[in-house]
Amino acid sequence: MPPKARLPRQADLARPSPARTYDWLLGGTDNFAVDRQFGHELLELQPIARTAARANRAFLVRVVRYMAHRAGLDQFLDIGSGLPTVDNVHEIALRINPAARVVYVDNDPHVLTHARALLEHDERTVIVDGDFSDPEALLADPQIRGHLDLSRPVGVLALAALHSCPGTARRSPPVRCAPRSRPGATWRSPTPRRPRRW
Ligand SMILES: C[S@@+](CC[C@H](N)C(=O)[O-])C[C@H]1O[C@@H](n2cnc3c(N)ncnc32)[C@H](O)[C@@H]1O
Repeated sequence: MPPKARLPRQADLARPSPARTYDWLLGGTDNFAVDRQFGHELLELQPIARTAARANRAFLVRVVRYMAHRAGLDQFLDIGSGLPTVDNVHEIALRINPAARVVYVDNDPHVLTHARALLEHDERTVIVDGDFSDPEALLADPQIRGHLDLSRPVGVLALAALHSCPGTARRSPPVRCAPRSRPGATWRSPTPRRPRRW
C-alpha cells in the first residue's frame, strides 16, 4: 500500500515538491504519487541522491550538536527547513539546551501545515511562512524578531535548500539573513544539494 499524506489546503498535487520528494528519499510518508514518480526519475539520473539526502541529515545532526554544545549557541534559524522528520533541529538543540529557541522558515504550504501541527504546544520553536530569496524581509519579520534576539549569536542553517533559489535569488543567498550588527557572532551552515563533482 502506498504511503498516505495529509492533504493541506493549498497543496499543489499536480507537481512534485522539493520537500515531499526529499521526504520520500529519506523514507518518509508525507509525499504523493507525483513526488515518488519524480523521486524515481531523480534516482535514475542521480543514483546517489538518496545517500546524499541521508548524509545531509546526518550532517545536520552533527552541525546542530556542534553549534549547541561546542559553540554554546541557544538560538537557531533554519531556513528551507523541510518537512518534519526524525531528529529535527529543535529536538537536537533542545536536548542539549532546554532553553534554546528555534525558528523554522519555509514557503511550502505542506511543510507549514505539518510543522505547525508538530509545534502546536512547543513554546520554544516556531515555523514562519517566508521566502529565503528575500533575506531583508526575513530579517524584518515580526515573528522571527519576536522569537530570536538578533543582537545575539544565531546559528543559521540553510541545508539542502540553496539550489531551490533560481536567478537573482541564487545571487542573494539566505546566509545574508545573518544579523550583521555583530560580525562574526553568527554561525552559518549552508550546504548545497549535491557535491560539486556532480
Ligand atoms: C530538500 S528540503 C531541505 C530540508 C532541510 N533543510 C534538510 O536539510 O533536511 C528544501 C526545503 O527548502 C524549501 N524552500 C525552497 N525554496 C524556498 C524558498 N525560496 N524560501 C523558503 N523555503 C524554500 C522547500 O520548501 C523545502 O522544504
